[in-house]
Amino acid sequence: MLHSSPSSSFHHTTTLHPSPSPSLLSASSPSSSRHAWLPLRHFSFQTRPLRLNNLHIHNHFALTSPKALKVNCSTSEPLKIMISGAPASGKGTQCELIVQKFGLVHISTGDLLRAEVVAGTEIGNKAKEFMNSGRLVPDEIVTAMVAARLSREDAKQRGWLLDGYPRTFSQAESLEKMQIRPDLYIVLDVPDEILIDRCVGRRLDPVTGKIYHLKFFPPESEEIKARLVMRPDDTEEKVKSRLEIYKQNAEAASSSYSNITKKIDGSRSKEEVFKEVESSLSQLQQSKGKILKSGEMEIQRTLEKSILDTKKGSGSSRQDKWRGIPTRLNNIPHSREIRQYFYDDVIKATQRAVNDGKTRLKVDINIPELNPEMDVYRIGTLMELVRGLALSFADDGKRVKVCVQGSMGEGALAGMPLQLAGSRKILEFMDWGDYGAKGTFINIGSIGAAEVEEQDDLYILVAPQNAVGNCIIDDLRAMTNAAEHRPVILINARLKDLPGSSGIMQTMGRDQRLKYAASFESCYFFRLLYYAGTQYPIMGAIRMSYPYRYELYKRVDDPSGKEKYVILSTFLERPTTDEINDAFEGKPRNETRKGSGIWGFLSGIF
Ligand code: AP5
Repeated sequence: MLHSSPSSSFHHTTTLHPSPSPSLLSASSPSSSRHAWLPLRHFSFQTRPLRLNNLHIHNHFALTSPKALKVNCSTSEPLKIMISGAPASGKGTQCELIVQKFGLVHISTGDLLRAEVVAGTEIGNKAKEFMNSGRLVPDEIVTAMVAARLSREDAKQRGWLLDGYPRTFSQAESLEKMQIRPDLYIVLDVPDEILIDRCVGRRLDPVTGKIYHLKFFPPESEEIKARLVMRPDDTEEKVKSRLEIYKQNAEAASSSYSNITKKIDGSRSKEEVFKEVESSLSQLQQSKGKILKSGEMEIQRTLEKSILDTKKGSGSSRQDKWRGIPTRLNNIPHSREIRQYFYDDVIKATQRAVNDGKTRLKVDINIPELNPEMDVYRIGTLMELVRGLALSFADDGKRVKVCVQGSMGEGALAGMPLQLAGSRKILEFMDWGDYGAKGTFINIGSIGAAEVEEQDDLYILVAPQNAVGNCIIDDLRAMTNAAEHRPVILINARLKDLPGSSGIMQTMGRDQRLKYAASFESCYFFRLLYYAGTQYPIMGAIRMSYPYRYELYKRVDDPSGKEKYVILSTFLERPTTDEINDAFEGKPRNETRKGSGIWGFLSGIF
């Protein structure tokens, strides 16, 4: 059984279009030549000196201007893999094999940095002291290099294999900000004692870039053996310190990828390890193709149906473009990008409705962070949403009043709903922009007729709700009467009747109250679907953005655990539970229902 509850959304494949500085672009990585710090490099590095001041400019651009990065939603992208593990866990060794088999672009931060060191660039000189002592190179240097490398055409076309990055929480955060996420996060798991042995015995061929080990992979000839070199950070003492630093950061760095992590026992032979790596990547590659096909077919069918409906006169002719909803909705709290998606979605829908002359509107968005019944409820998300909406109208020169209901009730029942506690204060102290919007275009007030002033153009009411022993509807009605033709927008209102303090439901005037509550037209609706009685995992979602139709999405997972949402059907009116069940079961519309089936919703959820 499925039920709906407040929350959810989106995924993304990312095509980056920053304009990295030319100097950064020059820091290229060979696909498999890992140890380019060596004096005799004959691999494909074309390293030109980089200037640190260029780097800073670029880094700032990349991290603080995510809008400058173009993110395209697409399911047809090549593989994007991250490989992580302690020093000498075999990342470089496995990367060589992955590149041979899958043709991905290998981006190793260790290699990129060693190339800078060899070229004697400013970055290289700075990085050298950190690397030689086994410490991590400062985040801003490494992140700028990675962002520049990922933005290159080959990585976009062939897919990428990111090795040794992110290594800290802040590096992982930087990637999130740039909306760069892998399909799979591989962790090579190897016990400490083996790691030290591997590092101390590692030798590199400066001519071919090949990685050897004195014991495990000895060189093929005396000639090669004679030219092998050791990495300066491969002494036992430095390895121990690198290992310690790895352990301090590993958990935080990988936490964002827990649902797409594949832990592999890296203590086995390199062939055995690769067998498992290869099988995971092959499966992922296949499922990516399959999901794309079935998802596209479903969307195509829905589109055709919608076009047919429109021709029959039942559809909205304005629905000409489909958009997806965010993935990773099961990850809570949501990332900034996901929250921003919802803010933008609500703003656009509400603006369209107001521009169409609608004056009594409601936004109903029920993602977990906005659902006071879930323990992940976050007042900040509600406030950010309200601020974004208010500022969007203020930007158009409208004077907006943002209203929160005041204390209600008397005696022991005096107070306000817990969900709204402190919200008025937060609104007062929030940052309302640099141009002094607050006090001119934005004012904060409470709910009631007394708040309606001549100069106001529009009212946004923050989660107005009935409380035990008190009904907000009378104040609301007085306010909307006083506002007359001016738009009043309710955000996540809860206007259902509640029992009085004596526990008895007040029936007098109930009809009028319900009728009044229903007089607000939905301009935005978003609700997650779950199995009945659960709040995890999300099974699908319903979205409506004025003036378009209600869209029903179903969650489809690929084997790596990545979420995708495909449109199952669209509806002119909010779908009933039966309609949702039918769509999930793949039944054609209007077929007589026989029982509720596994997707049966609890009735009355809506
Ligand atoms: P980096 O070069 O990335 O070093 P690392 O992470 O310590 O990893 P290694 O290259 O030492 O080991 P590996 O896992 O690739 O193992 P390999 O395949 O070679 O980084 C170096 C430095 O750069 C860092 O210390 C830091 O200063 C800086 N840096 C890099 N990224 C950074 C970032 N994001 N932020 C900040 N600073 C950063 O194998 C090791 C040995 O084991 C070889 O001899 C190999 O032949 C052998 N071997 C491999 N697999 C097997 C197997 N299955 N069985 C037996 N032997 C094996």
